[in-house]
Amino acid sequence: MAVNQNLPFYRLRHEFKGVMYPNFVLDSSIKRLRTFPVRSDDVWLLSFPKAGTHWMMEIVGLILSDGDPDQINRSLYSSTPEMINMDQPFPATREDEKIHPVNMSPFLDVVERAPSPRVMLDHLTLDLLPEDILKSKVIYTARNPKDSILSWFEFVKDDPVYSLTMDKTIEEFMNYTMNWGCWPKHVRQFWELRDHENVTFVFYEDLKKEPAKNIQKIASGIGHPLSDETLQRVVELSHIESQRKRFQKMAESGQENLVSNASGMYTFLNKGIVGRWKNHFTVAQNEAFDEWYQNIMADTDLSFTFE
Ligand code: A3P
Repeated sequence: MAVNQNLPFYRLRHEFKGVMYPNFVLDSSIKRLRTFPVRSDDVWLLSFPKAGTHWMMEIVGLILSDGDPDQINRSLYSSTPEMINMDQPFPATREDEKIHPVNMSPFLDVVERAPSPRVMLDHLTLDLLPEDILKSKVIYTARNPKDSILSWFEFVKDDPVYSLTMDKTIEEFMNYTMNWGCWPKHVRQFWELRDHENVTFVFYEDLKKEPAKNIQKIASGIGHPLSDETLQRVVELSHIESQRKRFQKMAESGQENLVSNASGMYTFLNKGIVGRWKNHFTVAQNEAFDEWYQNIMADTDLSFTFE
């Protein structure tokens, strides 16, 4: 695409083993991650993009800080395979990445040294994550795919790397050329593990509907159950409007962290509503999606709340 050629290398996307990734996700990081040594008190926040990953990140931060947002260790959040590369010098070319593989894997340098408990975020499928990942705590967030598609479209619609329309966004989701690949494989791999003692499987829609119940489930899942009073505080502070106000304040005071710095303070906060796809999918798009979905999900008992 002509417009892409003018963009710096790191802004583009590329294919690795049949899956598209943004270029700030390095092939070398993905390869090394498989043998990455996990700790039993690691917390992995896993999801397909636009499932509410960063909402979960804030919730877990609030849980671990007993409901005090000022005590959230936000520097840890940059020690994630996804985010870490954003804070580092980018390789200018693919050749650069090959010549300096260690420099290009800040994940190894920084995350390995990070103190416990590490909170790490990733969108990779289970087969690419550390072999021993189930020795640590896993929180998996799943969201109905129609709202995720809309969220992804709104997230990148002005970005020339993607030049997406709703039609193209839905198509890329269904043929697995969207960044991070195959949604059905992703959710189904973790759904199969939902009863594992170290896995907490949470639906975005449940979290919206019954925040207290689901936040306590997450807190217990990571071995940090909350008192009623703290739970109530975490519920209030993880509401999207409360987060918006807090992030705005942090940005205004110039705090350097993921929220106000690397990713832009509102990047991951949009509307936060269930069923908004209904106003954005055409009848034809919806019918085509439903046909694909029913076919692809016919043999699983995993089901989603769409409105
Ligand atoms: P929408 O675009 O539908 O509003 P991710 O972090 O995986 O990229 O997901 C982003 C989605 O999570 C966005 O969805 C965003 O608004 C939503 N989100 C972020 N914080 C939230 C919160 N506190 N409550 C509800 N939804 C939230």
